[in-house]
Amino acid sequence: MQRLIPTLRRDHVEEGLISVINTLQICAKEISFRLHQGELAGVLGSTLDENIQGETQKKLDVLANQLLKDILLENSHIRAVASEEEEGIVDGHTTGDYLVAFDPLDGSSNIDINSMVGTIFSVLPAPKDDRQGVDLFLQPGTNQLMAGYVLYGPSTMLVFTTGNGVRVFTLDQKVGEFLLTDEDLEIPADTCEFAINMSNYRHWQPQMRAYIDDLLAGDTGPRCKNFNMRWIAAMVADVHRVLCRGGLFTYPWDCRMPNKPYKLRLMYEGNPMAWLVEQAGGVAHTGEQRILDIEPTDIHQRIGVILGSANEVNTCLEYLQGSQ
Ligand code: AHG
Ligand code: MN
Ligand code: MN
Ligand code: MN
Repeated sequence: MQRLIPTLRRDHVEEGLISVINTLQICAKEISFRLHQGELAGVLGSTLDENIQGETQKKLDVLANQLLKDILLENSHIRAVASEEEEGIVDGHTTGDYLVAFDPLDGSSNIDINSMVGTIFSVLPAPKDDRQGVDLFLQPGTNQLMAGYVLYGPSTMLVFTTGNGVRVFTLDQKVGEFLLTDEDLEIPADTCEFAINMSNYRHWQPQMRAYIDDLLAGDTGPRCKNFNMRWIAAMVADVHRVLCRGGLFTYPWDCRMPNKPYKLRLMYEGNPMAWLVEQAGGVAHTGEQRILDIEPTDIHQRIGVILGSANEVNTCLEYLQGSQ
């Protein structure tokens, strides 16, 4: 089975980016090791702190964030990093050509129940003009050079794109290396599976309620087929399932928080997952526009997310846009 670096060279990925991806896989192995040690490493449970998102940080949110920062910032190709857990960006090397945005630990509520979590990352080009600070990162997802995630599940998987399809690597624990296990993920256009946090039903827009109502109505309803539902509560794991066998994943507009009506973050969750989904033949949308086209105004900006099997996402968008 093919190793990571030879696969990247075969895909003609530039050497600087190969170095960044190599550093990311080192971080992934380090976090994977700590996670698998679990309670033995004393890493479960919460801290007393809140992050910039207003969430109570888990010990592993903090640990994974620190590991990523420490290891990535040693790489001279990296100009700066931005994290879900950090208020501002962290500067690296002034001559670096790359920026890395990351969600160090996705699915934090799963940590203490030994369920699936992930790490998500997005690599952008460092602008060549005189921009500084957070402005460096305010680029649309179409600028991404590499995007991916690590899924810490029964096996640890590294899934990413450099714009050449979606590659899947599985960590061989015996040799400590990621090996290529799927060359090119393709999301089927049709699906009978959806993922949404149903407990928020009363907070959704009426059009989203109507769409979900019709899925639940099954083969005697307007959609004339039965749908199954899955919700792992970790976007990495839910999107991984969509990439592997199709489905629709959404975290839609939600009227609970008037100032922050969306949950997922554009830079750390929306953009990287949107590019992966598009690379696998799917659609990734906010309900109003293609996610990758958004011009960000804030590194912690939140967006609505509807992604997955092309025909199903397009059907959902028809409901939202009132033509159903
Ligand atoms: P994070 O753990 O990085 O803050 O992200 C959690 C996100 C995402 O992974 C998941 O899809 C969603 O929150 C789960 O939300 P619910 O708590 O509503 O299930
Ligand atoms: Mn969080
Ligand atoms: Mn997350
Ligand atoms: Mn997180």
